[in-house]
Amino acid sequence: MNTQKEQPNYSILADIYDEVMHDVDYITWTDYIDEIIMEHHPRAQNLLELACGTGTMAISMEEFGYNRIVATDLAPKMIERATQKGKEAGSKVEFKTRDFLDLKLDETFDVAYMVFDSLNYLHQSADILKLHAEVKKILNPGGLFIYDFTTPRNSRKAIKYLNNDEATVDDRYHYFRSSSYDGQKQIHTNRFEIQPLSGNRNSEGETFIEEHQQRIYTYYEVKEMIDQTDFKILKAYDGFDLKPAHKKSLRITMVLQ
Ligand SMILES: C[S@@+](CC[C@H](N)C(=O)[O-])C[C@H]1O[C@@H](n2cnc3c(N)ncnc32)[C@H](O)[C@@H]1O
Repeated sequence: MNTQKEQPNYSILADIYDEVMHDVDYITWTDYIDEIIMEHHPRAQNLLELACGTGTMAISMEEFGYNRIVATDLAPKMIERATQKGKEAGSKVEFKTRDFLDLKLDETFDVAYMVFDSLNYLHQSADILKLHAEVKKILNPGGLFIYDFTTPRNSRKAIKYLNNDEATVDDRYHYFRSSSYDGQKQIHTNRFEIQPLSGNRNSEGETFIEEHQQRIYTYYEVKEMIDQTDFKILKAYDGFDLKPAHKKSLRITMVLQ
């Protein structure tokens, strides 16, 4: 009998995250974040990545020669996977399990950055303000906070290719993703049904469910929240360009100081 078991976000998904995201171009994305740092803080030496997931970006950021990179994520399974990938790559990135709303770090950084919609996991403006306050505590004077968020327009487009996405990963799992967007509430839901296949150490006959709900923001909503923090907006960039965001931007990258 097949049973369904709800899981915390990014627990069972951590096992197949890199395969699910196989078409995300992390090399271009890493180059882009480095380009932003070079543009706005060329002397930056040490970096903190928030919500680093399985560590792909932090590990490839090393090639630019920064002195130190620390990368953190809330989900212990994502950090486990990141640490393993770091070891395999001979990387010096230090991975730590941390909630970005309570960073508990005893060092400071020139740049904190966070990519791929991680801000959208925060549904309340009070939490977004808290995140900025936490980051302020660990930034050196003149430091940057760089992050992106996805817009309502992106959600309306993305459900066309995210909904009903399914695949078998390394003969270990089959996953099915449904994706929907509630434009009134500005909530994007991605629901993953992940089924271990025969021979998998995880129990066969069970389907694991992860339901991810993201709050989708317009530029003006994010700007209004930033205006309540101690940060000033240096730039709001469109997509993966160093050009200003505009009303049709699908993803906006904020550069704050
Ligand atoms: C869409 S994934 C992006 C991961 C990674 N940045 C990437 O590009 O692959 C969102 C990540 O945000 C993390 N996350 C969500 N809420 C968090 C929190 N409160 N503190 C730290 N990380 C969090 C999740 O665990 C997950 O790894």
